[in-house]
Amino acid sequence: MGFPAINGNTKVCCLFGWPVEHSFSPAMHNAAYQRLSLNYTYVPFNVHPASLPQAVQAVRALGLVGVNVTVPHKQAVLPLLDQIDAAAQMIGAVNTIVNVDGKLVGYNTDGSGFVKSLIEGARFAPKNKTALILGAGGAARAVAVQLALSGLAGLYITNRTPARAAELAEHVSRTTGVQAVALPWGHDLPADIVMEVDLVVQTTSMGMSPHIDQCPDFPLTALHAGQLVCDLIYNPDQTAFLRGAAARGAATLNGLGMLLYQGVLAFELWTGQTAPVDVMREALLKQVAERRE
Ligand code: ATR
Repeated sequence: MGFPAINGNTKVCCLFGWPVEHSFSPAMHNAAYQRLSLNYTYVPFNVHPASLPQAVQAVRALGLVGVNVTVPHKQAVLPLLDQIDAAAQMIGAVNTIVNVDGKLVGYNTDGSGFVKSLIEGARFAPKNKTALILGAGGAARAVAVQLALSGLAGLYITNRTPARAAELAEHVSRTTGVQAVALPWGHDLPADIVMEVDLVVQTTSMGMSPHIDQCPDFPLTALHAGQLVCDLIYNPDQTAFLRGAAARGAATLNGLGMLLYQGVLAFELWTGQTAPVDVMREALLKQVAERRE
């Protein structure tokens, strides 16, 4: 890549996932190291679930500086670490590990990256606002907890499988003290609540390429100007759900910012330097465009 050759001082960051072949993170992080002339490198490792304990042990043995953790290891890695940041503990998932002199500390920059993308991408600060989340999976959990920790006034959660919405609402209320309420999915979702919330976040996989015509069953006509509607999907650029929201006058935001800022926050944890956000965004957009070709 033409930046500082790897030598005895190179600090190594990596990704543990299964699979990792399609990750955008190596391009995003290596572009940032190059821009700041940091003697760092970022490499992806395909880690089989059965090998995760050895892989984490190798971080200590090899003195790797930082690790991103992705599917399917985000929950399984917790008991293997020395310390877990409070938000990551509440989310119950870690996507970033920092090696502090042999002590492995786990963070979750998915949730904080999402909140940062709201602030940077839509000038939306969650404090004293209300939000409705569609979905109750891993992504919804990170978003819900971090929104609550950012001072949200109230949260609603709706999910195809109602028990998961109820479980997540109970979890958020208990761990953060912010009241979270589970609502019915689809036709039975109360339109007055859709109308009243400041923020709507679509976290399910519905509408993701190649299923670009899919759209959650949702009272889109209740949306209006003055609301912000997010979809965590970034391929396509605008899901059918976001198009429907935009047609009602709501501001919209896709999931690219969350992906970017989870990387930005991990970069800053590993290097202690301010991330070159524009360089990372450019690298990310290039990867996304190549994937679409
Ligand atoms: P992630 O980590 O991306 O959130 P996940 O934990 O598998 O992935 O969660 C997927 C979410 O998308 C869930 O909320 C799931 O709903 P269920 O809990 O009912 O399974 C939701 N989802 C996926 N496909 C869906 C569909 N066709 N209709 C409605 N919800 C769907």
